Amino acid sequence: MGILEVKDVNKRFGGLQALGDVNLSVRENTVHAIIGPNGAGKSTLLNCLVGKLIPDTGSVMFDGQSVLGRKPYEINQMGISRVFQTPEIFADLSVFENMMIPLFAKRDGSFRLHAFEGVGSERGLTQEAEAMLDEVNMLEKRDFHAGALSRGDKRRLEMAMCLIQRPRLLLLDEPTAGMARADTNNTIDLLKTIKAKRDITMCIIEHDMHVVFSLADRITVLAQGTPLVEDTPENIKGHPKVKEAYLGEAA
Ligand SMILES: Nc1ncnc2c1ncn2[C@@H]1O[C@H](COP(=O)(O)OP(=O)(O)OP(=O)(O)O)[C@@H](O)[C@H]1O
Ligand SMILES: [Mg+2]
Repeated sequence: MGILEVKDVNKRFGGLQALGDVNLSVRENTVHAIIGPNGAGKSTLLNCLVGKLIPDTGSVMFDGQSVLGRKPYEINQMGISRVFQTPEIFADLSVFENMMIPLFAKRDGSFRLHAFEGVGSERGLTQEAEAMLDEVNMLEKRDFHAGALSRGDKRRLEMAMCLIQRPRLLLLDEPTAGMARADTNNTIDLLKTIKAKRDITMCIIEHDMHVVFSLADRITVLAQGTPLVEDTPENIKGHPKVKEAYLGEAA
């Protein structure tokens, strides 16, 4: 039994079958990559895991509990955090203020932001935020305007905002998209460090095969909304179905 169990999930958008009979089992403390061509349904699947979309049929269980029908913040409280395909940070706030948002949200028990006033006045939270920024090598940018950060730093900040919630399952939707190679390699190293330090399961969607093969323990290949194959990176590399889905890209 995996910590995350997706069974027979279907999702249609009008006439389009975005997900068709998706089954996925993610084992605890592993990195599970989901790969597949554009439009394969990867983000749709992630949206179903975090309450942004409700599948038409099927079940999604996290640690034995259904996530379906729960609000996104409730799923978050269950221990699932997600890094979006486009970074979701508060551009008009500083890096540090962004970090305080999930901390206040957690303390407050919801994602209402009224408790945001008085940011920085609570020493414990300040230290927690700074320690997390240090862990992702962002401490020296503590007072930078978040909107002015580079794409790589925005991603790192968003990751820190997720990790400070101490998730048991971290979902990453193309964490290195649009990054320069050096930033991509930094992200790989960062995720490896985080993985080594914590009890955390990661589910990562990624087009960059260098990232996938550097991090993944298991890989699911999705094509036209349906898993083609699930296997180890070694077995996936030369798999004929993967070559077919990727036109040789992954082979
Ligand atoms: N809200 C929506 N309404 C209608 N169609 C949608 C919606 N969201 C996604 N789709 C369609 O569902 C299919 C799967 O989209 P999805 O975003 O899940 O693909 P993806 O695998 O994440 O692709 P990419 O690699 O480009 O991010 C696509 O054909 C997309 O156009
Ligand atoms: Mg996507």
